[in-house]
Amino acid sequence: MSQYVMKGGNPLSGEVVIAGAKNAALGILAGAVMANEPVTVEHVPMVQDIEFLLDAIREIGASVEVREGGTVVIDGSTIHKTMVNNDYIQKLRGGYYLVGALLGKYHHAEVDLPGGCNIGSRPIDQHIKGFRALGADIKVRNGMIVAHSARLAGAHIYLDMVSVGATINIMLAASTAEGKTIIENAAKEPHVVDVANMLNAMGANIKGAGTDVIRINGVSTLHGTDYTIIPDQIEAGTFMMAAAATKGDIVIKNVIPKHLESISSKLREIGCEIVEDDDAVRVIGRNHLRSTHIKTLPYPGFPTDMQPQMAVVLALAEGTSVVTESIFENRFKYVDELVRMGANIKVEGNVAIIDGVSSLSSAKVNSNDLRAGAAMVIAGLAAEGYTIVDEVSHIERGYENFVEKLRGLGADIARVDNEREARRFRMRAV
Ligand code: EPZ
Repeated sequence: MSQYVMKGGNPLSGEVVIAGAKNAALGILAGAVMANEPVTVEHVPMVQDIEFLLDAIREIGASVEVREGGTVVIDGSTIHKTMVNNDYIQKLRGGYYLVGALLGKYHHAEVDLPGGCNIGSRPIDQHIKGFRALGADIKVRNGMIVAHSARLAGAHIYLDMVSVGATINIMLAASTAEGKTIIENAAKEPHVVDVANMLNAMGANIKGAGTDVIRINGVSTLHGTDYTIIPDQIEAGTFMMAAAATKGDIVIKNVIPKHLESISSKLREIGCEIVEDDDAVRVIGRNHLRSTHIKTLPYPGFPTDMQPQMAVVLALAEGTSVVTESIFENRFKYVDELVRMGANIKVEGNVAIIDGVSSLSSAKVNSNDLRAGAAMVIAGLAAEGYTIVDEVSHIERGYENFVEKLRGLGADIARVDNEREARRFRMRAV
């Protein structure tokens, strides 16, 4: 099992270039299958989740060409089936975008649900509610979501909670439904806007993305286009936290500073210096950081996907910080790992109370999930000594060239596949 081994304690400094947004790319690549012409998507981050989705898209018969530099060309004219069931799609939550895309194009889709979940316990009820409102019959059969409709017709849909996935999935299906669809209480995340922009570039008629009311006038077909994905807000935020935690100085390039406002303002509040440029942001860490309170919220609130990384920074800030997770109930699993590195954190329900410490110490810790894994790497780089982060496949689902980018900032880190390589790293032979 692959691990990252690192020797921490050095401030990170230099420049890093951010990749395209993974969570936008999942919706955009699924949407690309809706045309019967080539769709060229640029700045696709080449991470595991994207590779899983591209495998699924190939499996249904679309042609997928991956070019150097993150360009992917998808041609959906050769699709010959609307059933997606393979080991990969079960591991990928974003695979459910193929339901919206195939339902919109072929009025039929059968897609494996993410492994270990069922419709009740891991809710996609809002996606289903939306598809049903458009006239689809939805069943869950043999672990798959089966969606069918003789005809899709626009509808007025009020989401019970703000859901990124449901908003994107309904937009995909509704873009080729007959008539007008209105999605109320829609998610406003930058990647929702990016998927809408991409569908519009394919000929869809979607207005209001980025507000909480999205209006879609259905069109009969979507056509090919060239589209460039927006920069990844969460990857950028992760490097911002790395600068803060290691007391470094990092210029993060290819970003949209507006998308980072909730993160920048919290870092400013605790004492970091943030300098914004048109498409870059510089974060200068400080020796003494102050505590603050964070509550995760849908965009433009503080993102749940930044909560673990921010908690690492707060673990090193003076005073008591309170972090409230209001999106996912199970997102504090990393806290035990951080405590093993010397952090002083107590979790009560969906609240973590962090009493800052002056330093963290190295340990062997687990990744748990994508963002928790990134947080552990930041902690390891801030801590004195050698830290090993286990199960890095979680991290590689969503961060492109993470180790290489960190090394470019002066981090002493390597990816190793066994104990021997880890020992060699420690002996400086890697
Ligand atoms: C997306 O997940 C992202 N994933 C997540 O990123 C991100 O954490 C999340 O949005 C919130 O921003 C992708 O884009 C692939 P939601 P998604 O639907 O769409 C509840 C990462 O690290 N809900 O906005 O699945 C749900 O339980 C990942 O990159 C329902 O109850 O999230 C949650 O509490 C992790 N019923 C809340 O809504 C539904 O039908 C928000 O979930 C749908 C959601």
